[in-house]
Amino acid sequence: MAGGHVIPVGETKIYPGRLTSYALFACMVASFGGLIFGYDIGISGGVTSMDTFLSKFFPKVLEKEKHVIDSNQYCQFNSVLLSTFTSVLYFAAFVSSFFASSITRRLGRKITMVGGGLIFLLGAIINGVASNVLMLIVGRILLGLGVGFSSQAVPLYLAEMAPMKIRGTLNISFQMMITVGIFVAHLVNYGTSNINGDLGWRLSLGLAAVPAIIVTVGAFFLPNTPNSMIERNQTDKARTMLREIRGTDDIDLEYEDLVAASKQSQAIKDPFKTLLGRKYRPQLVMSIVIPSLQQLTGINVVMFYAPVLFKTIGFGTQASLMSAVITGFVNLASTFISVLTVDRFGRRILFLEGGVQMTIAQIIVGTLIGWKFGTTGMGYIPKTYAIFIVIFICIFVAAFAWSWGPLGWLVPSEIYPLEVRSAAQSITVSANMFWTYVIAQIFPPMLCSFKFGLFYFFAAWEVIMTVFVYWFLPETKGIPIEEMQTVWKSHWFWAKYVNDDNVDSGHVEISNVSV
Ligand code: BGC
Repeated sequence: MAGGHVIPVGETKIYPGRLTSYALFACMVASFGGLIFGYDIGISGGVTSMDTFLSKFFPKVLEKEKHVIDSNQYCQFNSVLLSTFTSVLYFAAFVSSFFASSITRRLGRKITMVGGGLIFLLGAIINGVASNVLMLIVGRILLGLGVGFSSQAVPLYLAEMAPMKIRGTLNISFQMMITVGIFVAHLVNYGTSNINGDLGWRLSLGLAAVPAIIVTVGAFFLPNTPNSMIERNQTDKARTMLREIRGTDDIDLEYEDLVAASKQSQAIKDPFKTLLGRKYRPQLVMSIVIPSLQQLTGINVVMFYAPVLFKTIGFGTQASLMSAVITGFVNLASTFISVLTVDRFGRRILFLEGGVQMTIAQIIVGTLIGWKFGTTGMGYIPKTYAIFIVIFICIFVAAFAWSWGPLGWLVPSEIYPLEVRSAAQSITVSANMFWTYVIAQIFPPMLCSFKFGLFYFFAAWEVIMTVFVYWFLPETKGIPIEEMQTVWKSHWFWAKYVNDDNVDSGHVEISNVSV
């Protein structure tokens, strides 16, 4: 099978211990960071479809929307300011991801999470009481900084607290919380849209304070990871913590490896420069390509703009928000399928199946919309026909939610070896946030000019990403991270970049490296 061929790997190091309820609880609190991220993804599309919100901040958009009968449906939400309101958050997250890595390293994951939660809280308050567009934008920038910090610190915290055997599942719990956040945001929008006056959108935006408080308070009481303690020379404390989270006194092997890992990671002066070395070419390419392609699926067109999209195809505000609740639910429920199958069937099969399903669904959605609106954007979509469009959007969302959604984060996190992990992880976060920003900013103008062809545009990317996975992404299921180099070495394309002396199965366990 192209790209999937791997040579057998050697002996795996198994550390004693189990997942204690203490470690599980700490991981659950930390993964609440995903809730913040998800709430933000889901909330903006709902408020931008509320007339009270539009009339206060974007009256021109509202005017255009009211005259849709004789104007182009594809263009009714095309306003630079309106897309900036959605996208600026991700630009701030993109910028903060550049320095989040060194802050995480210097101050620790816990303080970074507390700080991220506080900044986020401030952003939520400013948005909830906003009286002009500037306040809205400033609030969104603060929210973005919070998202950038927590996306860097939370996956790291989870990787360091989780026993190696269930790291994949715990990593997906972050994605799971993102989908919970999106779903809750859609529900909140549905509820608040019934409220007269400004209170509705104020509640939607201001309620972001709730996950922010949970994360800030929760993170404050979280223990630091043993890795973080070793970095600060708190060796006794680190041993005690390791005993506590592994539920055994037999921690010497893991402890020694943590210390070795910490020393090795500190010995690398410039991880970014190291990552440019030829032998890390597969990791460098994956750290950029996987998150970029994840965003080029077009998923956030649905996550950000679902209510706007549904209004475009003729639904009223309530029906649009209800449809967004449905897509949010499908997203959440389908993520469970990934949790249940990722370690049994592997990553590639999910990526490939998801890619094919997304392509077909996008082509059908584009065709259904094009059939009624043509290129002029004028026309009427009957109710039952619109319901069909929603069904195919749900089929697209389900495919994303069990493939590129969780795996777009999981696979990069498990392929970076010790020496380059910090650099590669922050490149992954930056690339993801950059493309999230671009899609949020260009979707409305692109819909206006590409019309229904926009869905074909994303379908074309889905074909490209499926071909890419087929040829270039080897299976990483069940491969210990320290032996990952053997996977590249045996790959038809990447082998030429990896020499035999790079294939060192004596590496220490990568999850224990400080980033
Ligand atoms: C992506 C987000 C997306 C979400 C949808 C995440 O993996 O990074 O951009 O909105 O999945 O569930």
